[in-house]
Amino acid sequence: MPPTVCGLRKHPGGKDNFKADRLAGDEALEAFPGLISSVRANRAFLARVVRYLATERGIRQFLDIGTGIPASSNTHEVAQAVAPEARVVYVDNDPMVLAHARALLSSSEQGATAYLDADLRDTGKILEAARGTLDFSKPVAVMLIAVLHLIRDADEPAAIIARLMEAVPPGSTLAISHVPNDMHMGAMSDMSDRLNRLLAQPSTYRSQAQVSSLFTGLELVEPGVVPIQRWRPDTEAEAAAVAAMWGGVAVKR
Ligand SMILES: C[S@@+](CC[C@H](N)C(=O)[O-])C[C@H]1O[C@@H](n2cnc3c(N)ncnc32)[C@H](O)[C@@H]1O
Repeated sequence: MPPTVCGLRKHPGGKDNFKADRLAGDEALEAFPGLISSVRANRAFLARVVRYLATERGIRQFLDIGTGIPASSNTHEVAQAVAPEARVVYVDNDPMVLAHARALLSSSEQGATAYLDADLRDTGKILEAARGTLDFSKPVAVMLIAVLHLIRDADEPAAIIARLMEAVPPGSTLAISHVPNDMHMGAMSDMSDRLNRLLAQPSTYRSQAQVSSLFTGLELVEPGVVPIQRWRPDTEAEAAAVAAMWGGVAVKR
C-alpha cells in the first residue's frame, strides 16, 4: 500500500476529501520533498519497535493509538509474526480509518485485534474499552506513532501520556515518534505553515527535548530519543534514510 500523508484527511469541506488530501499532500511535498521517505521510515520504525518489544521484551499486548489507514506492517501483523497470541487494540478518531478498520481485524486465531473509534484525549474511554481485549495486569505497549503532533499543547500531551501509563503495570512500554521542529528546520516550518493553513486539525511540531520530556518517569531504552531511522536500524540503508521524526521507546519500572 502506498504511504499516506496522515492527518491530511481532516480538511473541512465535506465530500471532496481526496482532492483536499492531494492538495495538502502537494503542499507538504513542495515544502519538504523528503516527506514520502520520512513516512516510509516511520512505518519501518513502527515495525522495528513492535518486533523489538515482542522479541526482546516479551510484550504480548499493544495499544496502538492514532493507528492510521492500514498500511504495510500493521502492529498486529508484526507482533503476531513473532507471537501469534499477541493482542492489539487499535484506536483512531478518523471516520476514514474506521471505514478501513476491517483490514486491522485480521488477527491470528491465537491472538486478537480490536478497533476503537475514540479520541486520544479521551483516555478514560480508551482504557475502559481496551480492557475488553487487553489484560491490564500484564504489560502493555502503548504506541503513539506519528500522532502527538496532532495534540496541541493546550490539550496537555504529557498529562494524556501520564494517564495512559498509570493504567498499565510495570514492564509496560511507551513508544513515540514525533514530527520535529528542530530538524530540517526551514522545510519543516514551511510545511507546518502550509498544512496549518489547509487543515482543520492544527499540527504542533516538537523538539528533541520536548519529545524526551514526554517520557518523564519512564526509563528510555538505548539509543534514547533519536531520529527514527537511527533507532536500532536493521540495515545501513535504513539508517541512511531521509526522515524527519524523533523516535524513542521507554519502559515503566
Ligand atoms: C500521521 S497518522 C499516523 C498513522 C500511523 N500511526 C503511522 O505512523 O503510520 C496520524 C493518525 O492519528 C489519528 N489521530 C489524530 N488525532 C487523533 C486523536 N486526537 N485521537 C485519535 N487519533 C487521532 C489520525 O486520524 C491519523 O490516522
